[in-house]
Amino acid sequence: MRIDKLLSVCGVATRSESAKAAKAGRITVNGVAERSPARQIDETKDVVCFDGVRVMYSKHIYIMLNKPEGYVSATEDGRDPTVLELIPEEARRAGMFPCGRLDKNTLGLMLLTDDGELAHRLLAPKRHVEKKYRFGCRDEVSEDDRQALENGLRLADGYVTKPATVELFDDRKSGIITLHEGKYHQIKRMFGAVNDNRIIFLERITFGPLTLDDKLARGEWRYLDDAEVDALTEAGK
Ligand code: URA
Repeated sequence: MRIDKLLSVCGVATRSESAKAAKAGRITVNGVAERSPARQIDETKDVVCFDGVRVMYSKHIYIMLNKPEGYVSATEDGRDPTVLELIPEEARRAGMFPCGRLDKNTLGLMLLTDDGELAHRLLAPKRHVEKKYRFGCRDEVSEDDRQALENGLRLADGYVTKPATVELFDDRKSGIITLHEGKYHQIKRMFGAVNDNRIIFLERITFGPLTLDDKLARGEWRYLDDAEVDALTEAGK
């Protein structure tokens, strides 16, 4: 792997910062200053330091993205841009994918990772982690409808949803819904099943132990910090 790629995937420096730092002699490989950020190193063996601090290559990458509208949760799509296209090339890793799906017009917290095992554990039906969404809908939700959404209801395809939690704001047309499963278009179909209501705004605000970072504007991303990775790992146990 190139040095600048290592520094980028470890969240230490962007490619242009690496170029400047290398020129300034701030990067060493096995104790020797390396002026070329393009130098290939073996990230599992070589000791790379930035300003004297060792840069540890992690086996997997975990990114929090604030998904904007118009992007699909896939690694490739013939028609629409994918969420992966919001991550600069130097921060991407082979095998990186969105962990779970959000519709093209759904916003908010998306986890991107190359850790297939953890993703599988987090999304497995028996342990499917809790997810909270802020929603807006066209019609007011009556107390009966709120309870039907919470207790579980039969969708048009016959599937009966698992218990959920629905908190309504004062206008009764917006609130927070908490799910422990993730069927295709689930929230939209749940609201469609109560008096033909319609979701007009949907934003995921939590995914298991992760909360959408309010410092991230739509389309922005950051690496998860160590505490967040530990919490995710714990949630997948
Ligand atoms: N439910 C939906 O209907 N859409 C999403 O994107 C997520 C949950």
